[in-house]
Amino acid sequence: MSLNESQENSLYELVRRRRSVRRYTGDKVPDDTVREILKIALLAPSSWGRHPVEFVILRDRETIEAVARCKRMGAGPLPMADVAIVVMADTADCELWIEDAAIASTYILLAAEEFGVGACWIHMRNRQGQRKSADEEIRQILGVPDNFSVLNVVALGQKGEKKSARTEKDLVWQNVHAGHYGQKGDFIGKE
Ligand SMILES: Cc1cc2nc3c(=O)[nH]c(=O)nc-3n(C[C@H](O)[C@H](O)[C@H](O)COP(=O)(O)O)c2cc1C
Repeated sequence: MSLNESQENSLYELVRRRRSVRRYTGDKVPDDTVREILKIALLAPSSWGRHPVEFVILRDRETIEAVARCKRMGAGPLPMADVAIVVMADTADCELWIEDAAIASTYILLAAEEFGVGACWIHMRNRQGQRKSADEEIRQILGVPDNFSVLNVVALGQKGEKKSARTEKDLVWQNVHAGHYGQKGDFIGKE
C-alpha cells in the first residue's frame, strides 16, 4: 500500500510524537485513562502467545518513592510520577520474557502518548538496588513471587515539559539495508 496525499500514516504520527517525558504537572492521570492504556498493553504480542507479562499499578506516593529507591542510580522522574506501572514477567516458563516485557512496555509508551499522558521507561533489570538488585528489592516491597523478574517501571504523569516531535531528519536510514548488508534500496533515502 502506498499513501496518497489525503491519507495520513496515523501510527507514524503517533510514534514521532512519542517522547520520554520526565517532568509532570502533579495533576492526576484518570483511572479510566490508565485502564485504556492497560487494555493496549494486554494486547501486546508475546512469545507462543503465553502472556507471561504482569503489571503492578502503583498510585500511592510512598510506594512509588520506595520503588524508585530500589534503583541506586538514575530512577530520575519516577518519584514524581502520578502512576507507576511495574512491568514484570514469569521467567520460569518463558525463555523470551525480556522480549515479551519490552514489547508490552513499548505498547504502554505508545498508548500513553495516544491519550496525551507523559511516560518514561525507567530501567530496572540488571540494575543495582540499595543492598541487592533493583529487581529483588522491588519484588520484596510488592510481594511478587520469586519466579518473576522486573524489567522496568513505566512512569506516567500529566506532561510538565514540552518535547518536539521527531521529524524525517531523525530517521536513520543508514540502518536499513536492501537485500544485502551495505546495499541501498529504492525505498531508502527520501530524507
Ligand atoms: C531499554 C530502555 C531503557 C531505558 N531506561 C531509561 C531509564 O532508566 N531512565 C530514563 O530516564 N530513561 C530511560 N529510557 C528512555 C531513553 O533514554 C529514551 O527513550 C531515549 O533517550 C530516546 O528519547 P525519546 O524516548 O524521547 O525518543 C530507556 C529507554 C529504553 C528503550
